[in-house]
Amino acid sequence: MSNAPVLVTGASGFLGAQVVLALRGRAPAACVARDPERAPRELADEHWHAADLELRGVVTELVRALAPRAVIHCAALGSAAACEADPERARRLNVGVSVELAAASREAGARFVLVSTDQVFGAAAPPAGGFTEESATAPLGVYGATKREAEERVLELGGDALAVRLPLLYGDSLGRGRGATDALFAALDAGERPTLFDDEWRTPLDVSHAAAALVELALDHATTGVLHLAGPQRMTRLELGLAALAAQGIPREEALRLVRAAPRSALDLVPARAADCSLDASRARALLAVPLRSPAEALRPA
Ligand SMILES: NC(=O)c1ccc[n+]([C@@H]2O[C@H](COP(=O)([O-])OP(=O)(O)OC[C@H]3O[C@@H](n4cnc5c(N)ncnc54)[C@H](OP(=O)(O)O)[C@@H]3O)[C@@H](O)[C@H]2O)c1
Repeated sequence: MSNAPVLVTGASGFLGAQVVLALRGRAPAACVARDPERAPRELADEHWHAADLELRGVVTELVRALAPRAVIHCAALGSAAACEADPERARRLNVGVSVELAAASREAGARFVLVSTDQVFGAAAPPAGGFTEESATAPLGVYGATKREAEERVLELGGDALAVRLPLLYGDSLGRGRGATDALFAALDAGERPTLFDDEWRTPLDVSHAAAALVELALDHATTGVLHLAGPQRMTRLELGLAALAAQGIPREEALRLVRAAPRSALDLVPARAADCSLDASRARALLAVPLRSPAEALRPA
């Protein structure tokens, strides 16, 4: 069995940190972040490489130096607002870096897993059961558009490459208040009454399950093309928040006093938020050993 590492970009981020944890016992991780100091302390003993991936040539050099068996590319400009504010940077990081990394991986004979998003959809309603891998993409903003372009250009290169579309992620951010549910808890701890949309539909997935599935897809499968990962339940942001609070023992009526249930139109958001990006993940469920659980199961205290 090869002892070559799996290169994880964005390893200090919400998803990337969980990918590094999921690799433990499976393969050594080569962790890349612009600033490894921002990684959670649980990952302090990992092998870190500080690199600004936006600088031309950096990703190719990294792949040549580390000779990974696989690359799980999590780094991105992932905030819709940041992408609208700086579309050039969004394109440079989300498209340019992904394409350069895919080409370098191909040259090195490494499997390449591109982390993409349900936000490649949103301008049109999904079919019953959610968008499948064959559904026509139609992003609403710069973030989704750059991720769609990355998918297309990476897959055009051919080789052992897979684009995995993820839904809204929630779950353990290792004490950093990131992701749909930890951000909610952090806002409540700060004395806020956060707004949760009751007309924004997603198929949310626990971040640790998403990470375990990405590791399984990188190491145990040869599937190429596009794959959807998602939770089994279509639900609103409000219902996800209430499920998270219920798992903390807070009854629904009390929870509804702690948060503000509102439609998306209550806030003046740019870009407009997609009403429904529900994903059909039946193909992944048939393929994977890792379960893709519902929020009620995933959030239940151990
Ligand atoms: N969170 C979700 O709900 C969700 C849903 C669907 C898809 N996704 C996708 O999942 C992936 C990870 O998202 P996330 O929520 O974990 O994001 P995140 O917490 O913002 O993490 C982003 C990571 O990218 C790194 N990064 C950004 N710019 C970089 C650069 N120029 N050079 C090197 N590293 C750089 C960051 O490192 P520094 O902090 O050091 O800059 C950080 O480690 C993204 O591709 C996102 O599109 C996320």
